[in-house]
Amino acid sequence: MSTTHLVIEQSLNLNGRVMLNGAKNAVLVIMASLILTRGKSTLTNVPCSDDVIQMIALLRSLGAELFFLKDEHILQVDTTHLAHCKVNPEIMKKMRASILVMGPLLARFGRAEIAAPGGCVIGARPIDYHLKSFKKMGVVIDEQGDYLTAVVQRIKSGRLVFEYPSVGATENILMAATLTPGVTHLVNAALEPEVLDLIAILTKMGARISIHAPATIVVEGVSTLRAVEHDIIPDRLEAGALLLAAAVTGGTIELPQAHAYSMDVFLCKLEEMGHTIQIGEDGYGVTLKATPEPCAVSFKTAPYPGFPTDLQAPMMTAQCLAQGTSIIEEAVFENRLLHVRELQKMGAQIKADGVKATITGVEHLYGAGVIATDIRASCALALAGLAAKGTTVMTAIHHWMRGYDGLEKKLSTLGAHISFMNELELHALGLGRTEFSKEQSL
Ligand code: UD1
Repeated sequence: MSTTHLVIEQSLNLNGRVMLNGAKNAVLVIMASLILTRGKSTLTNVPCSDDVIQMIALLRSLGAELFFLKDEHILQVDTTHLAHCKVNPEIMKKMRASILVMGPLLARFGRAEIAAPGGCVIGARPIDYHLKSFKKMGVVIDEQGDYLTAVVQRIKSGRLVFEYPSVGATENILMAATLTPGVTHLVNAALEPEVLDLIAILTKMGARISIHAPATIVVEGVSTLRAVEHDIIPDRLEAGALLLAAAVTGGTIELPQAHAYSMDVFLCKLEEMGHTIQIGEDGYGVTLKATPEPCAVSFKTAPYPGFPTDLQAPMMTAQCLAQGTSIIEEAVFENRLLHVRELQKMGAQIKADGVKATITGVEHLYGAGVIATDIRASCALALAGLAAKGTTVMTAIHHWMRGYDGLEKKLSTLGAHISFMNELELHALGLGRTEFSKEQSL
């Protein structure tokens, strides 16, 4: 029987030093970018999360050869014989990042056939910004229900203005622009650290890219790009999760590889709560020593360098246990407060109204049966489980598996009692669905 639950016991005072995985949100787009090249590339620091496995399947279905040394985190990708332009709809529906192959396919073959992308249900998540810019580049798009065929004879450069700095749209258009003759300006572009990592690998491939104020990426098209070796940046979202694990359990966690610059506002908010943050020389290496009396802080999510939407849910858990009242506003996605209901099951005092949540800190959370509603919600609930009295049993753990590679193992090495269990194992511990809901429901 496969593992179906993540079971978490109260685990106070987590302590230790942890190495980070490569960033999920960087590696997915970087894998897609290899379509622009012909040859053998090697990526290192590649996390073995389910989304990476899906992207491997996607690239294989297009004709690329991939070899993943999971334990070494090395991914070899040979795009020499990549020849198909049609993406399997089953894969597209599992992961929103599949849309990121559209730009590279158009640039290399002048054609891309895709289906509407899936992913976390955190909002409508349209792809209109991607499509509007592709159309301006001369791409003709035929939409038939959920299926879309995009074709271009001669892709055009120009000045493309995003009405919002969408990460995915910036990455997609940027990749297409690298092989587009002439100079393309991407105005109001997203400049998240993952976009900068994409720019770093594209530059190694031979692309000519520069960044100008205000938030403009300028791309001078080249005729070919070469295969490369590239080390994926450390995952700032895994780093955030681990720092919050120290914060909610009253411990001290050191992340020698974390880049402080990639999470400035988040770190400021943790300091404002009363936690001690130490940053290494040149901004590399972050340690959090928890205060025993954290105070509540309010924040609003925003594109980088603002407070990251992907840390909103995990940070909410910390507010549930802080002294005072916090107001959290989710300004990037319109449906990203689904974890509120689950945290309430654990005793959190939260009032949600649209995209705003008002949290009154409580002394204790209590273990409960909870459902992960998206990747970052799964992290918020696991953190709550570490701090909560009793046992927390989380279901829908595919979200956790999509976003994190072995985070539960890392937490265990820090002293956490957290493990995967199947239904039989839960019953053996008296934590099966029926017993658990009787004993633990609030
Ligand atoms: C990426 C990240 C995701 C993160 C998000 C914001 C990956 C694989 N995922 O997602 O973890 O939460 O950035 O930092 O890198 N929008 C439109 N039309 C579009 C595109 C976006 O309306 O064509 C809206 C979205 O619905 C959302 C907002 O713009 O409300 C931001 O989305 P975007 O920055 O594009 O996020 P993703 O690239 O999907």
